[in-house]
Amino acid sequence: VFRPTLMTGIQPTGFPHIGNYLGAIQQSVKLQNSESYDKIFFSIVDLHSITVPQNPTILRQNIINLACSLLACGLDKPQTVLFQQSSVPHHTELAWILGCLATLNKLDHLPQWKEKSPSKEDVSLGLYSYPVLQAADVLIYRATDVPVGDDQIKHMEFARHLARQFNKIYSPVFPIPKQITSQHIRIKSLRDPIRKMSKSEKDSRGRIELFDSPDEIREKLRKAVTDLGTGGMIGYDSQGRPGISNIIDIHAAVEGSTPDQICSECAHLTTVEYKERAAEAIIEMLKPIRARIVHLRNEPQHVVSVLSKGNEIAAQNAAKTCAEVKKLIGL
Ligand code: ADP
Ligand code: NA
Repeated sequence: VFRPTLMTGIQPTGFPHIGNYLGAIQQSVKLQNSESYDKIFFSIVDLHSITVPQNPTILRQNIINLACSLLACGLDKPQTVLFQQSSVPHHTELAWILGCLATLNKLDHLPQWKEKSPSKEDVSLGLYSYPVLQAADVLIYRATDVPVGDDQIKHMEFARHLARQFNKIYSPVFPIPKQITSQHIRIKSLRDPIRKMSKSEKDSRGRIELFDSPDEIREKLRKAVTDLGTGGMIGYDSQGRPGISNIIDIHAAVEGSTPDQICSECAHLTTVEYKERAAEAIIEMLKPIRARIVHLRNEPQHVVSVLSKGNEIAAQNAAKTCAEVKKLIGL
């Protein structure tokens, strides 16, 4: 029997945005507050972020900003272990071991390396084998549950496959981790509503970052791409009218309601008026988070000390699994 343990992560590739919050962070906070887990490992997955080029100064800054944001969102309970992936060497050690069970055939069928590779002809080994490291991130803590977005379904299946392989060959050391995806919410870019809102989209006007000021949020909503629709009125049709539908999706998630409810409440508004209404709802939701980020940014030593405590606890737990695994293999 394995203790209920949650593991999740986020890349320090930029400032977290409302898509990260509504699609992942908020759910982790709820799961944390449900008190149903012994431990919650929340990893700033910096080793994943370097699968594509990063500027060292900016990366270092992004790691601290992400830690501030996660704390500001409420991931600060005693059972929550907030830590930096690269400070726990057992992730890469287990990744090597799991990599010896992973085949090229399996990896070829995982979608992300093709999407993220800067070159079509060649791909870095890190980007290609990234799902193996992701499996190690989860298995090293013997996590039973993993809250991630639905873009991660294939990767989670692969992690389960590796856990089963290892358990079958050696001994059942790993639980088979479950993916938890409560709401299948996928926020799109405000500038390009066909693509997901992402930290790594070049045009930052496409995303609402957790630290954006009310005026920046108003401006981004005003400039959000929407069609003229039927007489400039709003309507929900994610295929035909992706821009306005995306804003309705964000608004519904922010209000904890549904696109249908939003549409009937706001049926009398023009698209322009509606975007102002949605902006105010978003500003309201982000207000306390932003205030806490401001506060934490003025206390960098506090954030650094939370991280180093987290790094220590994560390493202790990971070391145990790693030692057991190596012994079983004969290392
Ligand atoms: P990004 O693409 O912004 O760099 P990450 O790859 O670091 O995001 O993902 C962090 C978490 O946020 C994952 O669980 C992912 O599923 C979720 N996520 C990322 N972008 C979105 C989005 N646009 N809508 C909903 N969830 C998202
Ligand atoms: Na990304």
